[in-house]
Amino acid sequence: MIIAIDGPAASGKGTLGKRLAAHFGLRHLDTGLIYRAVAKAVLDAGEPLGDVACAARAARTLDPSQFDETALKSHKVGEAASVVSAIPEVRAALLDFQRDFGRTPPGAVLDGRDIGTVIFPDADVKIFVTAAPGARARRRTLELQAAGASVQEADVLADILRRDERDTGRAAAPLKRAEDAHLLDTTHLDIDAAFRAAIDIVEAVRAGR
Ligand code: C5P
Repeated sequence: MIIAIDGPAASGKGTLGKRLAAHFGLRHLDTGLIYRAVAKAVLDAGEPLGDVACAARAARTLDPSQFDETALKSHKVGEAASVVSAIPEVRAALLDFQRDFGRTPPGAVLDGRDIGTVIFPDADVKIFVTAAPGARARRRTLELQAAGASVQEADVLADILRRDERDTGRAAAPLKRAEDAHLLDTTHLDIDAAFRAAIDIVEAVRAGR
């Protein structure tokens, strides 16, 4: 089984993806990490983020077994990822890795921006997770503050809006809801309620409802 989860920054799709994978005995891939790894490689090389050759080379030579998730999750790398991810050559170089990951038994949950539209248009279940920008900014601020960062909610909101605009406005695989994706709005749901709602969606699809 392949479950495709897409949605904007800080919608909760990563946590949902992880929990759904554990619940259904599937593998999990946070595809944001691979774009973040490409961005970090370009930053580490001291090249501009728009350097297509450098970014594409980084994408082709990526080694996910070497990922340092803490470093990749930094704010700076996330911003940079939303720039390099708009480069078509980068997206093309990462396509096979994502498809191979998903097709390896027993199947997987992949979360990202274009899983249900480009990577697995035939996924068994597609969920588009969203939440109002204010709710996403509040959650992300609390998360960052819990990790010791001193951030203001207004700045986090501005970042989220900028990232939404970049991800939905780009020509290459923009963030959008697949026509057959189930919408899960988590604005008024905590993570447990969102998880239960996601399980209900998967069960209903599997039962042919
Ligand atoms: O999900 P996360 O915030 O870690 O993703 C970082 C950036 O990587 C996103 O803002 C987006 O631009 C890009 N991305 C993408 N396609 C994906 C996953 C992430 O373009 N499937």
